Amino acid sequence: MAESIVILTGAGISKESGLDTFRDADGIWSRVRIEDVATPQAFRDNPLRVHDFYNARRQQLLESNIQPNPAHLALARLQRDWPGEVLLVTQNIDDLHERGGSASVLHMHGELLKARCTHCHVVAEWRAPLSVGTACPSCGHAAGLRPHVVWFGEMPLEMERIYTALDACGLFVSIGTSGNVYPAAGFVDEVSRRGHAHTVELNLEPSSGTDLFDEAIHGPASEIAPAFVERVLTSGW
Ligand code: APR
Repeated sequence: MAESIVILTGAGISKESGLDTFRDADGIWSRVRIEDVATPQAFRDNPLRVHDFYNARRQQLLESNIQPNPAHLALARLQRDWPGEVLLVTQNIDDLHERGGSASVLHMHGELLKARCTHCHVVAEWRAPLSVGTACPSCGHAAGLRPHVVWFGEMPLEMERIYTALDACGLFVSIGTSGNVYPAAGFVDEVSRRGHAHTVELNLEPSSGTDLFDEAIHGPASEIAPAFVERVLTSGW
């Protein structure tokens, strides 16, 4: 029985596709304050500003020049060709894993191309701009829709499923994340505590948690991720 694999990705895997990261020098949080656009209080205080922030990112994602890169494609190949379970968990809210061929993706921080009603809690596919008066397609409530994005201070999605997979995996791979935001930043510890799995960091440069990993490979994701997937599929880890 082949070992299971858990992959965690962050903004770095989408950087070469043209989407900004958060904490690099040119990152999103160098231009916008988290407190203004990415907390429940920000949405209560100024919903229009929050909608504008996510509408701009949604609009950019839907532009034709934003395409999955070889790192996304490599992970889809691993999910297809590895004989055991592969759980792909992403902190990213873009759809580049799906467009890169990944059939199942667990978006622990939500998805930019979905909206959620604060009244009936239905989550709907959403590609148009959101605004304060946009009516919920399910319950019709006029002021209910918010981005289906997990804000700071909110609980990430599907955590039980993630921890179950971390418990059982033989390989944990973190790709393109700075290791600054919990609970994702703690996943490597969760895995290492059980002493069973091999843990690998693939990142442009050492992350905050790089010393917690058994192995670290540094370079652009579009180069190191395909090479790592090839290695796993041909000779394991
Ligand atoms: N290839 C690989 N890694 C890269 C590349 C690249 N081409 N470019 C940048 N990186 C790395 C950076 O070195 C950095 O360590 O990607 C990481 C991006 O880190 P962050 O910007 O902090 O993004 P992330 O770790 O995904 O942030 C986690 O924080 O703001 C919240 O909800 C948001 O999901 C996000 C979470």
